[in-house]
Amino acid sequence: MKRYIKIICCIVIVAALAILVKSRWNAWFKNVPEEPYAAATVPDRITLTPGEDFMSERTVSWRCGDTLAQSFLTLTAGGDTATFKATGSVIESRGGRDAFYYVTIDSLQPGSEYSYRVTTAGKQSREYRFAMPDADEPARRFLFFGDVQDNIGGQSGEWFAKLYRQYPDADFWACAGDLIERPIETYWNYLYQSADTILATMPLLNSTGNHDYLKGLYLTIDSRWKHTFVYPENGAATAIGISYYIDMPGMRFIVLDTNGIQDCVTITTRYQWLKRVLASAGDKWKVVMWHHPAYSVRSSRINLPVRNTFVPLLERYGVHLVLQGHEHGFMRHIGTHGDHPVYLISYMSPKSYKLRKSSPGFKVIADTPMYHIVDYNNSTMEVRSYALANDSIMDFVKISR
Ligand SMILES: [Fe+2]
Repeated sequence: MKRYIKIICCIVIVAALAILVKSRWNAWFKNVPEEPYAAATVPDRITLTPGEDFMSERTVSWRCGDTLAQSFLTLTAGGDTATFKATGSVIESRGGRDAFYYVTIDSLQPGSEYSYRVTTAGKQSREYRFAMPDADEPARRFLFFGDVQDNIGGQSGEWFAKLYRQYPDADFWACAGDLIERPIETYWNYLYQSADTILATMPLLNSTGNHDYLKGLYLTIDSRWKHTFVYPENGAATAIGISYYIDMPGMRFIVLDTNGIQDCVTITTRYQWLKRVLASAGDKWKVVMWHHPAYSVRSSRINLPVRNTFVPLLERYGVHLVLQGHEHGFMRHIGTHGDHPVYLISYMSPKSYKLRKSSPGFKVIADTPMYHIVDYNNSTMEVRSYALANDSIMDFVKISR
């Protein structure tokens, strides 16, 4: 009799697993096909990112052609011009081949204005301008938003232009991942049409989201991602270029890739890295950004590896602000240090998901795409959350140090 019960139990388990895999097949394994495309014939996707030292380092990346050619950046400041040789790589996507280039400049002067052009194989871009922030300014500001994932022909171009116009004093923009809907050429093109020249002039701190990955038994980051968004190589050994940190005056901003962290090696290396980077931040403001929220507002999304592995570190090292995306809703929760860590989930997308209701300690707002302005000085950090549609304030928190 016992033998029959065991056999029936096995059959039930196998059947349940089969039903689960069938129901989740598309979500776990199916990628949107990518149409073949031709490489860019002039430099495009020109993108400005910060180095580890925000006050003196910038990287500019671009792509042009599908084989490596002589490429450089020309930088002008106060009538002086310098030329920097570019580093190039040819990458393959499912739809084509691209040559990407980047230049890192590490001797920029706080408070100075610069203009630049990039050139590949004699083809020159237009001129772009950026300003380095003033190091002595005691009050600093940055802008944060979550998943964008706009549909082709959507409104993200208007949103980006509005935020750029309304907050010219932001030091940088931060995005918690899923900036594009799918990792295919059509959406990459659409992002750069929407953002126009903003990504070439406003430094972007971007995180990887699940939509930046190709699905499969093993997740694979879209080959274009790391060559488009070139960050300092100070990340965890298993996540160079997709986990990194940036130092501002008085603040360390840490970005951690939370995709595919189910295996022990990945979890351990990212845990050890985060611990080291938090410990060495000293008494600075500590901001952490990643895609998958530690505390889900969708009952189907638990993100246990993130919560069980990393949250104890955030609490132990007194992280002040945790910026997250993925769930296409808003949530604000405050951890165990009185007024911090502030755990924020947000999105700025036409797609809204069903969320659970607010509960004690968890403020939840559904169906309201938002953006967030973070102002900080030596003693306080203020986070204002605004509805994207009408700029009305939806949430405010103040953190003291
Ligand atoms: Fe996501």
